[in-house]
Amino acid sequence: MRIEINGLTFAYTDQGQGMPVVLIHGFPLNRGMWQPQIDGLAGKLRVIAPDLRGYGGTPPTPAPYSMELFADDIIGLLDGLGITQPVVAAGLSMGGYIVMALARKYPQRLAGIVLAATRAGADSAEAQANRLKMADLARSQGAAAIAEAMLPKLLAPSTYSQRPALVEQVKAILMSASVEGIAGALHAMKDRPDSTALLPEIAAPALVIHGAEDQLMPPAEAEKSASGLANAQLELIRGAGHLPNLEQAEQFNQRLAAFAASLA
Ligand code: MLT
Repeated sequence: MRIEINGLTFAYTDQGQGMPVVLIHGFPLNRGMWQPQIDGLAGKLRVIAPDLRGYGGTPPTPAPYSMELFADDIIGLLDGLGITQPVVAAGLSMGGYIVMALARKYPQRLAGIVLAATRAGADSAEAQANRLKMADLARSQGAAAIAEAMLPKLLAPSTYSQRPALVEQVKAILMSASVEGIAGALHAMKDRPDSTALLPEIAAPALVIHGAEDQLMPPAEAEKSASGLANAQLELIRGAGHLPNLEQAEQFNQRLAAFAASLA
């Protein structure tokens, strides 16, 4: 589906009925990463999954991007769909940074939040320098170079050795990102604020969910977020790396569905 938001045509999926759950993808992915959630949960929930600007079917826009801009796009989508009731905002990794931006700017729109494979802190100076190098790499060598750099760290070692079709699927998603989208999101992540002090202020219940074998974002980050939040439950998923929703889709879906049901 397509909708005009903030002067840009966004691609999104909107399936099912019930509590609206907005699924916000990670970097440099697109809404294709949520297919098991769309397939598995649309019988129980209203599952909404946009492509962020510069990803999937949503075209890039000129820099700068920010987590606040991405959050404004999510609210524009909800407004465009006529959804005024509070929603569950679920974000993975960079999507989690966007959920925190939503909690900062639009707390009244949130019935619950899901922080998957993410962290509350800002980038270190070293991580910021790395973002700039990655953006240069994307500009000089394209999405394939970013895919090559990220793919080995995205999935659990067991996923690599046993699930070649899933590895190929993730690779295809990574390869499809636009260079402007990659560079824009890298700059936005580099400059994102530290949300640690925001966590205890978030009134909405939270589900913090993380792969036990995440090589990009240590599970200790999830423990820190869960203990900082006022009202959180923590789920560590075994046999999953940075993409627990794809690597252990059934478990991820069960936990997300139970969390959404607890809010209804
Ligand atoms: C993501 O998966 O969205 C990114 O790896 C997050 C990050 O680089 O901080």
